[in-house]
Amino acid sequence: MVDTPFANAPLVPATNDAAPLLDVRGLSVSFGHGPAAVRLVDNVSFAVGAGERVALVGESGSGKSVTAQALMRLNPHMQVSGVVQIGGCNLVALSDKEMTAERGASIGMVFQDPMSSLDPLMTIGDQVAETLRLRGVSAAAARARALRVLDELRVDRAAERLAAYPHEFSGGMRQRVVIAMALIGEPKVLIADEPTTALDVRVQERVLDLLYSVSKERGLAVLLITHDMGIVAGFADRVMVMYAGRIIEQNDVEPLFASPRHPYTQGLLGAIPRIDQKREQLQSIPGAPPTPFTRPPGCHFNPRCAMAMEICRKDYPAMIETGSARVACHIHGGGHA
Ligand SMILES: Nc1ncnc2c1ncn2[C@@H]1O[C@H](COP(=O)(O)OP(=O)(O)OP(=O)(O)O)[C@@H](O)[C@H]1O
Ligand SMILES: [Mg+2]
Repeated sequence: MVDTPFANAPLVPATNDAAPLLDVRGLSVSFGHGPAAVRLVDNVSFAVGAGERVALVGESGSGKSVTAQALMRLNPHMQVSGVVQIGGCNLVALSDKEMTAERGASIGMVFQDPMSSLDPLMTIGDQVAETLRLRGVSAAAARARALRVLDELRVDRAAERLAAYPHEFSGGMRQRVVIAMALIGEPKVLIADEPTTALDVRVQERVLDLLYSVSKERGLAVLLITHDMGIVAGFADRVMVMYAGRIIEQNDVEPLFASPRHPYTQGLLGAIPRIDQKREQLQSIPGAPPTPFTRPPGCHFNPRCAMAMEICRKDYPAMIETGSARVACHIHGGGHA
């Protein structure tokens, strides 16, 4: 054995900085039982690292919110399978009681409409502090933490405002409060489902800027759900594109915008309004996405795809990896999944 100055040092497990904070493998979500069961999300795999911001995009009905709810296990009627690993713990395998403890502690969530997450009859201070109070933290300590988080989210005069009620706050301020509620338990992962859609553009930018700096400062893994490709470009490091319950393309944000590979992603990016285009020249993807009941065989996008080949109508394409990109499309050589 080589004698090194560290020979007698205690063995410390090697830390792997590259290990993702949130590691989702083969996540599927169904409703109903037996022949009536319908699969809303199908075999979704992705990872988000510490301090990384990943956007989940796709048209309405593609399964973005169902994915988020499944990660948080918010809907008891959903049948969730696969692995959702956070810090060595598989959330899918936890009992309901254990999962209740994980919510807010390892994973937090912010929804689109802040009013739906706020109790109109409870003060802002009590609501922000509630997660800590439920964990047995004293009222004074919880209040101090609430103040600190509200300060971090640049809520002015936070000390005075702890006694206010939600209706006394503007939409942007309410959304900051909801973000504070999600962050006070110091989760490692934050899921934000269209967190700024209800806000006007300027307020939207400010809230996203805050979320961006908080994720950098805290090393928080953020999964941002949006259908706004403009927001994606300014906020995310990486993008996942969802179609009919599956992720069909993933890439770092720059190469995704510069060279989208999947015809669906190309269509989505073509549908971003550009200032230099007249209204009638705006492109959009022809046709409508299928519902979970009407997904066609083969690649689910094939009826809308101008490049569809025979195989696209038969076999679902496998996800292939080239460089930072992953794409499930026969044009790119994806064999049968
Ligand atoms: N509780 C539920 N029970 C049954 N089906 C549901 C439920 N929630 C959503 N769905 C269905 O699952 C599919 C995916 O819905 P989801 O809400 O995840 O879409 P989304 O991508 O979040 O869309 P949007 O951009 O409109 O928010 C849709 O067809 C929807 O009708
Ligand atoms: Mg949604």
